[in-house]
Amino acid sequence: MKALVAGGAGFIGSNLCEALLAQKDEVVCVDNYYNGTKENIEHLRSDSRFTVYEEDLADIDAVEKIFSKVRPDIVYHMAANSDIQASAQAPSVEYRNTYTTTFNILEVMRKTGVKKFFFCSTSAVYGDAQGSEVNELFSPLSPISYYGACKLGSEGLISAYTYMNDFSSLVFRFPNVVGPHLTHGVIFDFIKRLRKDPSRLVILGDGHQCKPYLHVSDLVDCILRFTESIPQGVTVYNVGGESQSTVTNIAEIVCREMGLKNVKFSYTGGRGGWKGDVPAFAYNLDKIHAKGWRAAMTSNEAIAATVRENMGGVRALSEVATGNCHRRPRQRFVARNTGCIKLKAKEPVLEICKLYLS
Ligand SMILES: NC(=O)c1ccc[n+]([C@@H]2O[C@H](COP(=O)([O-])OP(=O)(O)OC[C@H]3O[C@@H](n4cnc5c(N)ncnc54)[C@H](O)[C@@H]3O)[C@@H](O)[C@H]2O)c1
Repeated sequence: MKALVAGGAGFIGSNLCEALLAQKDEVVCVDNYYNGTKENIEHLRSDSRFTVYEEDLADIDAVEKIFSKVRPDIVYHMAANSDIQASAQAPSVEYRNTYTTTFNILEVMRKTGVKKFFFCSTSAVYGDAQGSEVNELFSPLSPISYYGACKLGSEGLISAYTYMNDFSSLVFRFPNVVGPHLTHGVIFDFIKRLRKDPSRLVILGDGHQCKPYLHVSDLVDCILRFTESIPQGVTVYNVGGESQSTVTNIAEIVCREMGLKNVKFSYTGGRGGWKGDVPAFAYNLDKIHAKGWRAAMTSNEAIAATVRENMGGVRALSEVATGNCHRRPRQRFVARNTGCIKLKAKEPVLEICKLYLS
C-alpha cells in the first residue's frame, strides 16, 4: 500500500508515518514545516520506503506534480493550522492551511483518480454545545473558531467530492490529542513555561475547562484499524476516550511528572482559555464503541505519559552523556521536546543539551 501523508512532519502525522512504515507500507510525507518539524521525521529517513516532499499543499500545482509522480493508494490528510490561538489573530492562516489544503488535495485526487481518503476533523466543528452530549448527527454545527469553521467547510467539500467521484472517505472528529512529538497545546506550553520558571505557572481561563485527552498511540491505532477497509461514501466517527481532565488537573500532572513541588498557580480567569476555545464538552462515542474500538488510556494517563515523552530536553543532560537517550538507546541522539536530533560526528553533547534546555 502506498500512503501519502499530508502534514506528515507534524505531531500526529509523524506518529502515523512511523506506524505505517512499521506495518510495511510505502509512505510519502508532504509538509512545508509550517508547524511540523524536520526533527519529527528524522528517525524515519533511513527507511527506503519513506519519501519526503517539502511543499506547500496550498499550492495546487505543487500538489498535482506530487500526485502525478507518486500515485498514492490512499491519502491521509493531516495538514492544517493547528494553532487555534494564532489564527484568532490571522484567520487567513486557516483559509490557506486548513481549508485550501483540503480543496487542493480533493481536487487533485479527482484529477488523478485516487479514491481512498482519511481526514482529521475535530470536535471544534460542534462549537460550544453548552453541555449537550454530541454524537455524529448533532446539529446545528456552529463552530466558534476560524479553525472549526475551516474544518467544517472541509467536511462539506469532502461530502461533495466523495459523492461526485465515488470516493471512500473516512472522517474522524477527535478532541485534544497528546503524546510524543507535540508541536503545540496546553501540555507543550506548560512544560515550556515551567522550564523557564519552575516556581510559578500562569493558567489561561479559570482552570475548570474540562476536556477529554486522547493519546496519539490510541488515535493512530484507530486510524490504522478503520482505514483497512473504508466503505464507499463518507463515514464520520467521533473518536476519543471516555474520561476528561480539567486544565488544573493537567497543571498538577505536569508538575508531578517534572518533579516540581509548591508551584504557584495563577489564573487569567474566564470560562474559556481564549476567544474561540470551547471550555467543556461531552462526546458521545457509541458509534465507534459499537465497532469494537475503545481508547486504552484514560485522559489523565495520556497526559502523564505525554509529559514523560516530551521531557527529552530535561533527560538529555543525564542520559545522552552516558550514551543512553530514552528514544534511541544505541545512537548518539539528543532528545528535545519535539523529538530527537541526531548528533553530527564529534558534536559536543553537553553544549547541544544546554541549547535545547534554554
Ligand atoms: N492535536 C490535536 O489535538 C488535534 C485535535 C483535533 C484535530 N486535529 C487535526 O489533526 C491534524 C494533525 O494535527 P497535529 O496536532 O499533528 O498538528 P501539527 O501542526 O503538528 O501538524 C500539521 C502539519 O501540517 C503541516 N502543514 C500545515 N499547513 C501546510 C501546508 N500549507 N502545506 C504543507 N504542510 C502544511 C504542518 O507543518 C504540520 O506538520 C490536523 O489536521 C489537526 O487539525 C488535531
